Amino acid sequence: MKIVFATGNVGKLREASEILGEGFELVSLADVGILEDIPETGNTLRANSLQKAQYLYEKLGCNCFADDTGLEVDALGGAPGVYTARYAGDDKDFNKNMDKVLYELGVIEGEARMAESFGLKVKKVSRRARFKSVITLIIDGQIRVFEGALEGVIAREKSGNGGFGYDPIFIADEYPGLTLADISEEEKNAISHRGKALRAMAAWLHENA
Ligand code: IMP
Repeated sequence: MKIVFATGNVGKLREASEILGEGFELVSLADVGILEDIPETGNTLRANSLQKAQYLYEKLGCNCFADDTGLEVDALGGAPGVYTARYAGDDKDFNKNMDKVLYELGVIEGEARMAESFGLKVKKVSRRARFKSVITLIIDGQIRVFEGALEGVIAREKSGNGGFGYDPIFIADEYPGLTLADISEEEKNAISHRGKALRAMAAWLHENA
């Protein structure tokens, strides 16, 4: 079965193809001649992944899926959330995005220390965070949604050369002391938010498609 994946990222396409396994041929946006940016104007990851999948389905009328991922930092009230890709600006600069998260957490911790120095009782600032991925699959015109999450904490500084995005500042609970950029691609894919959502979709497809 041929399925269009709303991505231009070869790494994501490879990971999804490996997880789906035999019987499924995944093709990218470029393969079907879609070169424009697909609109993502929703307020939630779910809304954005649905918007992207529906855009493709309306254009191509074939089986397709789209994913959307966000980082939620508890002390930042769930930010960057739906703004994860462009948290520090429209240039989607990974380093600037990470610096912004580290800076904002630093400010909150600084405020807490100051309050403490005035004798106020202050709860320790949590650095807990999670990545969430939502996949919307449109198959034979029916919509299915799959989700995956990866729990962890935001590191005090960047570490590691692997991965992409916020990997150098995210320490998964499964690998204490190491960021996602410090571990191998296989180790990350086995625990990642996107890996979990993709495996949930693969299980459903193998059973139902
Ligand atoms: P997308 O929805 O997959 O395009 O992800 C949105 C943004 O989330 C990306 O631009 C990255 O900044 C970030 N992101 C997504 N997945 C990961 C990941 O596995 N590690 C680190 N950052 C990620």
